[in-house]
Amino acid sequence: MNANPPTRILFVCLGNICRSPLAEGIFCSVVARRGLSGAFAVDSAGTGGWHAGSPPDPRSVAIAAQFGIDITGQRARRVSQLDFARFDLILGMDRSNVEDLLAAAPNGSDRNVNLFREYAEGIPADVPDPYYGGKEGFAEVYRMILAASEALAEKLERFSGAPSGHASSTT
Ligand code: 4NP
Repeated sequence: MNANPPTRILFVCLGNICRSPLAEGIFCSVVARRGLSGAFAVDSAGTGGWHAGSPPDPRSVAIAAQFGIDITGQRARRVSQLDFARFDLILGMDRSNVEDLLAAAPNGSDRNVNLFREYAEGIPADVPDPYYGGKEGFAEVYRMILAASEALAEKLERFSGAPSGHASSTT
């Protein structure tokens, strides 16, 4: 039983068709396996709006399906100003996503913005953009996101569903 409200997490990349839909699908599957689905509300978005309304890239769909994760129901959207208030934790896939998020955040509302792998695993590294590469890039991104998602679930479980430190939702 978890009496706490769900921790709201937004995964963000550039287009919201390759990496962040995978992060949303993988993190949801990780927490489901741990019996923690009710503890999290998860979404994804892009800093750019070019692909708004589109389903995930077929290469992301394919690598997720290989591991039993269905992301076909997702549709791309652009990060909105309201997201900065709505989400407890906003995790950018790479440093340029984090820079764009910090630039877009309304005054004083950037405290929940973090680099995904750094926040989750203490590894200050990007989940690289696989869009212009081949299938192997998507497999590599899948592995990275899975490791970071396991670490993130572990970390947030330790804090009983409340993000800590930099991402604290207290004002
Ligand atoms: P994502 O990948 O940020 O992981 O969704 C990209 C998708 C589309 C483009 C770039 C990156 N694009 O230039 O259209």
